[in-house]
Amino acid sequence: MTLPIVRTVADLRDTVAGWRGEGARVAVVPTMGALHAGHLSLIEAGLDVAQRVIVTLFVNPRQFNNPGDLAAYPRTEQDDAVKVEAAGGHLLYAPDGDEMYPEGFATAVSVAGVTEGLCGAFRPGHFDGVSTVVSKLFLQTGADYAMFGEKDFQQLHVVRRMARDLDIPIRVIGCPTVREADGLAMSSRNARLSEEERAVAPRLAHALTVASARLTAGEGLDRVLVETRGAIVDAGFREVEYLELRAEEDLAPLATADRPARLLVAAWLGTVRLIDNVPVAAA
Ligand code: PAF
Repeated sequence: MTLPIVRTVADLRDTVAGWRGEGARVAVVPTMGALHAGHLSLIEAGLDVAQRVIVTLFVNPRQFNNPGDLAAYPRTEQDDAVKVEAAGGHLLYAPDGDEMYPEGFATAVSVAGVTEGLCGAFRPGHFDGVSTVVSKLFLQTGADYAMFGEKDFQQLHVVRRMARDLDIPIRVIGCPTVREADGLAMSSRNARLSEEERAVAPRLAHALTVASARLTAGEGLDRVLVETRGAIVDAGFREVEYLELRAEEDLAPLATADRPARLLVAAWLGTVRLIDNVPVAAA
């Protein structure tokens, strides 16, 4: 493997400065590793807009509100590096905790508005952790483009808002969710599902797709939400954390599908929390 793996901000900046000298545009794909086809599609999308693609790998402790979740997060750097190289990425930036948050680190980036509700309501501090690390990754890499999956739709909005508000000169590009053949949205968490749970998991996407079609056909939101929650629990999910209709453009809560929207869900399957969302065309 010849893919460079860089662990310090100084080395990262040296490499990017060399690329800049050659006139290259740079895209960054921020990840926490355990790469799957969804991440690889982000690398591919990065290669469409830039000559050099950096993949970052940092399991960010500041965005985990549950220590068990942080401890259980898969760490597969060698496999990840092989995948990045095969997908055409140019560099893996994998700093350690001290490089990212050196002794005395005392700053947090906190985005209001789009962080309210949805995952923001159930994972206190999560988006502050995301905004803090992603703003650092943007500034460390100096990339022109940042590729984010639409599966984490609220995160995409948070990161866009943060970059705009802090005048970070980077274009945040949202890329479509990549799904398994049975519809399950790809996620590093899927690896933690038992065989039985894995068989149930695609029912989440299926329930969302059915609900989206009903809303576009003009059915009332309350009824569709109640019945969809019921269908998800009947399928075998332990709990639906949220199921909400939000505006595509700014995540405003909607009472009817009167403009392009997203139906967003978080639900627990055993000990694994899955999130997903689908577009809802205006009725
Ligand atoms: O989506 C993720 O994997 C993480 O939230 C991110 C954007 C890499 C920040 O740690």
